[in-house]
Formats: sequence, C-alpha cells, structure tokens
Amino acid sequence: MIRRTVVVGTGFLGAAVVQFLRRSGMAPLHTYRQRQVFADSVRFDLFRQRLSEVVPISDVGTVIFTARIEDAFDRSNLQSAMESLFRECRNMRIVYLSSDAVFDGQRGMYVESDAPSPLTTYGRNKAACENFWERSHPTHCIIRPSYIFGFSCGQLDPRLAQALTTLRSGIPFHRFNDMYKSPIEVNRLAGIVVQAARSSFGVTSCGWRAHERV
Ligand SMILES: NC(=O)c1ccc[n+]([C@@H]2O[C@H](COP(=O)([O-])OP(=O)(O)OC[C@H]3O[C@@H](n4cnc5c(N)ncnc54)[C@H](OP(=O)(O)O)[C@@H]3O)[C@@H](O)[C@H]2O)c1
Repeated sequence: MIRRTVVVGTGFLGAAVVQFLRRSGMAPLHTYRQRQVFADSVRFDLFRQRLSEVVPISDVGTVIFTARIEDAFDRSNLQSAMESLFRECRNMRIVYLSSDAVFDGQRGMYVESDAPSPLTTYGRNKAACENFWERSHPTHCIIRPSYIFGFSCGQLDPRLAQALTTLRSGIPFHRFNDMYKSPIEVNRLAGIVVQAARSSFGVTSCGWRAHERV
C-alpha cells in the first residue's frame, strides 16, 4: 500500500504544497486550524488535539509540517506539542518548515553547519523545534526558507499584499534599504518541499546546499 502524505497547516505555503502534490497525481491529507482553503481539509489544532484524532494515521507515511506555531511565548507548550506529534510520527518521514530566523543575520551566507543564533522569540522557538527533531527523529528533514513570496491558490503573500494596498491608497510606504533576504517564490518552494519529502535529504537550507544525511 502506498502510504499517504499529510500536510499539517494549509496556510500560504501549505496550500501551495497541497496543490503541488495534487498536480503530481497524489491525494494528500491536509489540515487547517481556522481558515479553510480546501473543502476537504480537516480541522486540527496541534495544541489541543492529536493528529490521529483527525487523520487515519496508520495510512500516513510522510508528514509535511507547514503549520506556524512558533510565535507562542510558552516554550513548554510548544515542546509538548512537538512531543505529541513525534509520538505519532516516529516511523514516518517528517519535513519540518523552519526559517532563516534561526540566524541573527549579522554575517549572512549561512550554511547548515552554522550554529543557530536567533534574536526573536519566533527564531528561538524555531531553533528549539529544530533541536527537538534533530535529537529525536532519525528521518526528519528541516527546511529553512527566508521570505516566501508570490501567489498561493490565487492569494498574494501577506507582505506584498499589504505593500500593494498601502501604495494603492497613496500612503507613503517605508522600507529598509540595508536589509538583504533570500526570497523564494512559494510554488517553487512547494516543489522543493515535496522533493525533500520524497528524498532522504537531511537538513536542507533553501537557496544553499542540501546535504545528504549520512
Ligand atoms: N511566509 C514566510 O515568509 C516564511 C518564511 C520563513 C519560514 N516560514 C515558515 O513556513 C511555514 C509556513 O508559513 P506560511 O507563511 O505558510 O504560514 P501561514 O500562512 O501563517 O500558515 C500557517 C498555517 O498553520 C496553521 N496553524 C497555526 N497554528 C496551528 C496549530 N496550533 N495547529 C495546527 N495548525 C496551525 C494555520 O491555520 P489557520 O490559519 O487556519 O489558523 C495555517 O494553516 C511556517 O512554519 C513559517 O514559520 C514562512
């Protein structure tokens, strides 16, 4: 039996991942928490439920975790949510979406082997989750995108959408002129996420090298 892929969190990136999988002929399971993009998505909140309560977990072989849960201030909550997910997914391939916010950005051009140096709660929580998967799960893959942009299921990313609205309304739009990012188009990233899920890649940083884990 071909085991199924579940995409946890169908926000901006997760929805593009679901579309990419569908275009590849697959029928992924997928979850949302409040904002439902696909009619057949199932409602799931990692802080309140176990994944097996909403999806047939024995059919699942791969979990693509695109939910954004790392803004939480309570690290112990986050840790127990990760542990709950781990208990159910210990024999599955898991792809965890992290962020370049695990680095402080002072130097730039980071590679996988650089030690995280987060500055924000979000970055520190991402680094803690990465650390959790590193320690506990042998077949995980971590992807650290920078700014994700473009159209996902017809929706422009929130940052560009806000910039457009501001500019169209004639309000001055302020921007940094000394900040450098490595942006990636959302559907391109969705393809990379799926490719990573199907591969045996270990830690992956989009835009940089992807190491085969040994
Ligand atoms: N967007 C970027 O530029 C960017 C850059 C680097 C890394 N990332 C990372 O990439 C991932 C995807 O980002 P995104 O922009 O697609 O985020 P997003 O649009 O905010 O989508 C996040 C998804 O997570 C769901 N979610 C939130 N809390 C949850 C919970 N407790 N349990 C289950 N699902 C929950 C949300 O559901 P509801 O909306 O229905 O509540 C939503 O479907 C995130 O991990 C993010 O940190 C994003």
